[in-house]
Amino acid sequence: MNTDTDTSAIAPSDSQKRRARAVRDMFGTIAGRYDFLNHFLSANFDRRWRRVCVREVARLILIPHPRILDVGCGTADLSLAFSGLGPVVGCDFSHPMLRLGLAKTANARCSYPVHLLEGDALSLPFPDAGFDAVVSAFVLRNLADISQGLSEMRRMLRPGGVLAILDFGLPDALILGRLYRFYFTRILPRLGKLISGVDGPYKYLPDSVSTFPPPGKLTELIKQAGFIGTEYRSLSAGIAVLLLGRIRA
Ligand SMILES: C[S@@+](CC[C@H](N)C(=O)[O-])C[C@H]1O[C@@H](n2cnc3c(N)ncnc32)[C@H](O)[C@@H]1O
Repeated sequence: MNTDTDTSAIAPSDSQKRRARAVRDMFGTIAGRYDFLNHFLSANFDRRWRRVCVREVARLILIPHPRILDVGCGTADLSLAFSGLGPVVGCDFSHPMLRLGLAKTANARCSYPVHLLEGDALSLPFPDAGFDAVVSAFVLRNLADISQGLSEMRRMLRPGGVLAILDFGLPDALILGRLYRFYFTRILPRLGKLISGVDGPYKYLPDSVSTFPPPGKLTELIKQAGFIGTEYRSLSAGIAVLLLGRIRA
């Protein structure tokens, strides 16, 4: 066991457990509508962001057939996007999201196998250093402890392994920023409620993005978790951000 990244001794607090349960229940409630809403509310930009994520990992990884771990894989869209690059394991703690992901992966024609299993991002059910790349989309913001999540991701990677994290950001540009915030905080929660039939989750989305650290601060947290070569790319004028790092070879 790698002692400087061993996190097994850290037990989650009661409030972290409550938060994790609330997040898991929330994704369980919206699972059936998740894919549709994801693509609809982002005007399909989410597909483009996942493709950029695959391209950037392919650029950095430098080996054929990398073993990829998708943390918080949900309904497996990112896992499927990576299935042309190497074998993928997707992990999520929401059973309903995983069930939908399993149906999708069973019907997909992938170059490499995709396996999905249930597990918690804060205590991943895999031995150390078993993957060449760890990827994660729209998950970090939901974790009860971001640093613990990053530290687990680092534990998964072999020396030289690559990390790629995709999540929402907030555009800086004045006019676009204002328009986007209006859409994100006023329109999106109403549309989300209308289509999913539940109130909370699409109100939670803008709330969780507005309290999420900005990319510069996230890059610092990634460095503190033991990554080097950290960088981030703003996507679609800052609506999304792709954070990258790697482990020393
Ligand atoms: C917004 S969805 C993103 C799903 C997928 N990555 C995508 O790109 O569509 C967030 C996912 O993270 C999962 N998640 C959140 N916290 C988690 C945790 N502590 N452990 C495992 N999965 C978690 C949720 O269950 C949900 O499926």
